[in-house]
Amino acid sequence: MGTLSTFQTGSGYEAWLGYRRLASGEHGNSYAIFNRIVVTEKDEVIQTAVSELTRGLEGILGIQPEITDHGEHAIALGTFGNHPLIDRVFGAEIIAQVGPEGYVIKADKEKGCLAIGAVSPQGVLYGAFHLLRLLGIGMSVDELELVENPYNMLRMINQWDNMDGSVERGYAGESIFFKDNRITEDLDRIRDYARMLASAGLNAIVINNVNVHKVESKLITEFLPEVAKLAAIFRRYAIKLFLSVNYASPIEIGGLETADPLDPGVRQWWKEQTAGVYAHIPDFGGYLVKADSENRPGPFTYGRDHADGSNMLAEALKPYGGIVIWRCFVYNCQQDWRDRKTDRARAAYDHFKPLDGRFMDNVILQIKNGPMDFQVREPVSPLLGAMPSTNQVLEFQIAQEYTGQQRHVFYLIPQWKEILDFDTYARGEGSSVKRIASGSLHGNRLAGIAAVSNIGDNSNWTGHVLAQANLYGYGRLTWNPDLTSETIADEWIRLTFGDKENVVAAIKSILLESPAIYESYTAPLGVGFMVTPHSHYGPDVDGYEYSKWGTYHYADWQGIGVDRTLATGTGYTSQYNAPNFERYESLADCPDELLLFFHHVPYTHVLQSGKTVIQHIYDTHFEGAEKAEQLISLWDSLEGSIDEGLHKQVAERIAGQAEHAKVWRDRINTYFYRKSGIADQAGRLIYA
Ligand code: GCU
Repeated sequence: MGTLSTFQTGSGYEAWLGYRRLASGEHGNSYAIFNRIVVTEKDEVIQTAVSELTRGLEGILGIQPEITDHGEHAIALGTFGNHPLIDRVFGAEIIAQVGPEGYVIKADKEKGCLAIGAVSPQGVLYGAFHLLRLLGIGMSVDELELVENPYNMLRMINQWDNMDGSVERGYAGESIFFKDNRITEDLDRIRDYARMLASAGLNAIVINNVNVHKVESKLITEFLPEVAKLAAIFRRYAIKLFLSVNYASPIEIGGLETADPLDPGVRQWWKEQTAGVYAHIPDFGGYLVKADSENRPGPFTYGRDHADGSNMLAEALKPYGGIVIWRCFVYNCQQDWRDRKTDRARAAYDHFKPLDGRFMDNVILQIKNGPMDFQVREPVSPLLGAMPSTNQVLEFQIAQEYTGQQRHVFYLIPQWKEILDFDTYARGEGSSVKRIASGSLHGNRLAGIAAVSNIGDNSNWTGHVLAQANLYGYGRLTWNPDLTSETIADEWIRLTFGDKENVVAAIKSILLESPAIYESYTAPLGVGFMVTPHSHYGPDVDGYEYSKWGTYHYADWQGIGVDRTLATGTGYTSQYNAPNFERYESLADCPDELLLFFHHVPYTHVLQSGKTVIQHIYDTHFEGAEKAEQLISLWDSLEGSIDEGLHKQVAERIAGQAEHAKVWRDRINTYFYRKSGIADQAGRLIYA
């Protein structure tokens, strides 16, 4: 495998697929069955499973299995009805439990085999990765018997890669897909990325940024032969390829005068381009569209709405089984800070909710998890679940745009779990976001989760090695939202760093503590932003206060926060169903961590915690910076217990984080001390 030699052990390139021999020995597995893999099907995804298993068994157990199409005392791998051994092991009852992408694994002592059976080749591939994961974390598989099905149908990654090689909000180098306005020739790297995604259970990828400029508009025309090569690589890993398209393509590359979705010429143009796409990529997934959002073109220009715009594309894709994923990140980005009526948080709901029921059945709306923009803390978007007759996909951001940019450690899984478990009450109690995302609440045919990728061409993929846990965890959680943050961390650590108990314990505590630590020294109590404009890195409390982006905190000498109540504010709270509406509307009941998102309060307001807002700000910022500092010694304690290269890389990042946490602490504390004139009760050093 070409690229592996370029990036040696210690670089982090192998990520969680290093398949290292475990320090703790043999785990009581009966190795005899691992000497042989019986596979009868030629399907390329099944062949991927075979080569992955071969590689994994060699790494983890030091065994080079024989690959054959008959015999016993083996790992048997295949789809039901196509493999005599698989069919002997699995009866109708168990087969009935396996869905289109699911699998069943059974260690069958009687028949002397370990069988992985599935309905589809991708199920077989996921089963193989599951087995390798268990072996990799040192579990015995002797008594194994399990059935797995993914909770979500669409498990998607969005690359924000531009063809010039840059990555929008990329914190791990340049694009692995594009360079100098061309598609990469380093297909090995793409394949290795596909392995990572498939091993984590993901099944769809959009390879280019949602902001589609002129050159990327041509991905659906002149670049198709190269795009088809990428699609072929992902296909081997059962990952469907999608493209972001430019809404104004008919004008930009088609030579038409309009992109009006109701114009017959425009509709015809999209049909022709789409036919061309499918001629090159018969299993192409569809289009992702950012329209009328942050100055991107869209149907509003022609007095049309988002249903008109997306349905036009859906019509073009429909004959081929393709889908349109239409983003709901639509808001006024030309706001005047003096205008206190407009509230960006309201925008997605206000724009889209009235359109419920008007979208074709191959349109999915993609909704960011919060109403603002991937902040450390914000409430769940009220649009989720609010459109019962419309397909929806939940959007997360693995890239840590507002959560430390992969220089600070921020394990995102706990945040995502909170969101997935949030009860929207869209259909009464039990209407959790995970049921909305999976489509089960409203019975949607198309549903799932998408997330902005955090990888680039850095040798360790994610810049910060610990940020790999977010990519891995995203896949695992999307497959099964009921996994705990701790289980996912545990798996990832063992697969990446080995299974020494001191290592597992220390890294787990760093990951699990990391969100609270980061939150404590950045913007307080859910108010958000306070970051340097454009880069979004580092503190700038008023950076966005007088700008056009609609992200204000309204701090003055008396207090801070945004009044989004129905009674006296923007009325945003009323977009929530009861009892969430009442909880957020009430100053007394609103959870502390979101208080300033929903209410404007004096600095002397007493939180549910018993502290005043101002004292909370001082305390959390001092404590947060201190805890960031403590990560240094915790990490140092692992020296000698893990790979030296990995240790060094993370040590550098953690030292940087500790320094930067102090910058945050002092900027925030000084700002609020100067504004409020209220001293810290503990008399700590605040630069006046
Ligand atoms: C954020 C981000 C942009 C991105 C946008 C989006 O605003 O800063 O870079 O384009 O989200 O999701 O479309």
